[in-house]
Amino acid sequence: MRKVTSEIPEEIIELERQAMRRVYEMEEKPASYCVVTYGCQMNVHDSEKLEGMLKEMGAAPAEDREHADFVIFNTCCVRDNAERRALGNVTWLKELKKTRPNLKVAVCGCMVQEPGMVERILKQYPFIDMAFGTHNLFHFPTLYEQMILEKRRIIEVVPDSDENIPEGLPVYRSSPYQAYLTIMYGCNNFCSYCIVPYVRGRERSRDPKRIYDEAKMLMDQGVQEITLLGQNVNSYGLDREDGVRFPELLESIDRLGVPRIRFMTSHPKDLSVDLMDVIAGGSHIAPAFHLPVQHGNDRILKSMNRRYTRDSYLEKVDMLRARIPDISLTTDLIVAYPGETEAEFEDTCSLVERVRYDSAFTFIYSPRTGTPAANMSGRIEEEEASRRIQKLIAIQKKITGENFAKYIGGTHHVLVEAPSKRNKDQMSGKDEYNITVNFDGPTSLIGKIVPVTITEAKETTLKGVLASEKAV
Ligand code: SAH
Ligand code: SF4
Ligand code: F3S
Repeated sequence: MRKVTSEIPEEIIELERQAMRRVYEMEEKPASYCVVTYGCQMNVHDSEKLEGMLKEMGAAPAEDREHADFVIFNTCCVRDNAERRALGNVTWLKELKKTRPNLKVAVCGCMVQEPGMVERILKQYPFIDMAFGTHNLFHFPTLYEQMILEKRRIIEVVPDSDENIPEGLPVYRSSPYQAYLTIMYGCNNFCSYCIVPYVRGRERSRDPKRIYDEAKMLMDQGVQEITLLGQNVNSYGLDREDGVRFPELLESIDRLGVPRIRFMTSHPKDLSVDLMDVIAGGSHIAPAFHLPVQHGNDRILKSMNRRYTRDSYLEKVDMLRARIPDISLTTDLIVAYPGETEAEFEDTCSLVERVRYDSAFTFIYSPRTGTPAANMSGRIEEEEASRRIQKLIAIQKKITGENFAKYIGGTHHVLVEAPSKRNKDQMSGKDEYNITVNFDGPTSLIGKIVPVTITEAKETTLKGVLASEKAV
């Protein structure tokens, strides 16, 4: 029997609110902050929670990180390069601290949760003023208050979480029309290569009523798009007793009438026919599905502990397409997993050619200490790994080009985000398939969903013309 998730008691959360009010009254608190975020949407949303708390404590966002009084790095450790990038930037602040002695530096997030990291921070990074793990995020106000009052290093990392879900703390959402909404924390899957279950703890699903109420509040505030977040949304609710699973949850939010709903990530093993039917029958669920396959060979999938086969994955892809013919599929792929032979790598290439994803994130396997794959033999040389990933990228690039060409002439519904980075006269946003579309239009369209007729396919984006200025 799985452990049933419960919320952190309200009295404990109230202590954090009190800490926020006390910090607000302090004169010596940092005036401005900068949150630097690495990693996935989970981390992006955690940073919004940190910002929510910082604002409540009276700090204002700094112009840039050079001018902030408090810089916090929300780190990722899923691959070695993510970790190196974060540590490199933290070290850069060491220099800045020499000229700005009042500057405070903090690190949090997944990297802090890695075994041995606290000891490393203590020894190698003496200029870090504060460090806390993913399970301590809700405790940030108290830690921040301690850092200011006690003028010493504050380090708090609990190992795997027995603690449960924090509710009722502020969130600062940077966009008024797009929002992330966490539906569950953690992961139980223990894919052999992946560190996430070790640094994020076990699956804990939020109360469906709270999720529904938050979605409603966001919709009432005018949010156009909500992305439901979890490492494996398909197993939402398995740790709860109320019987609400992901299909019902998604259906209830769809009925609410939020203009566009997305969700991520889905584990293929838990993708049910019920969920496919909800997406097919939904009115607002975007026809875009990120379904990470990781590999195309059964021996490797088994070694990865993914618990599906190439064929069962392909069957689900076909079932999805039968129900939602225009669905846009995307995926994550790993090359150079320990012991991957040339023929096994070719299986990934042929799977990509068979599914014809709209796009794919491709990664070279990166050993993570403490995961089973890190102890496996058959490490692939860097040069060979690089050849494989280049080949896979080239295959996917060709398919993306061919898929995108088919979009020409169609009308897509674009949630307008901002002027395009390359051409300020153009607007840029994401269509229902989660593809970036650029088109000529006024800034007054920002935050609206507008119809755009696709005229041109670029390498990773589409170009179009406004079909009508009236928002749909
Ligand atoms: N929960 C999500 C993914 C989280 S991590 C899921 O299961 O799909 C995002 C992606 O990083 C994974 O899908 C995988 O492709 C990649 N990844 C994870 N660990 C990795 C490692 N050790 N080396 C290379 N890529 C990795
Ligand atoms: Fe990592 Fe697998 Fe969990 Fe995704 S499902 S977070 S890849 S362990
Ligand atoms: Fe990275 Fe943590 Fe996300 S390791 S990918 S930030 S869950």
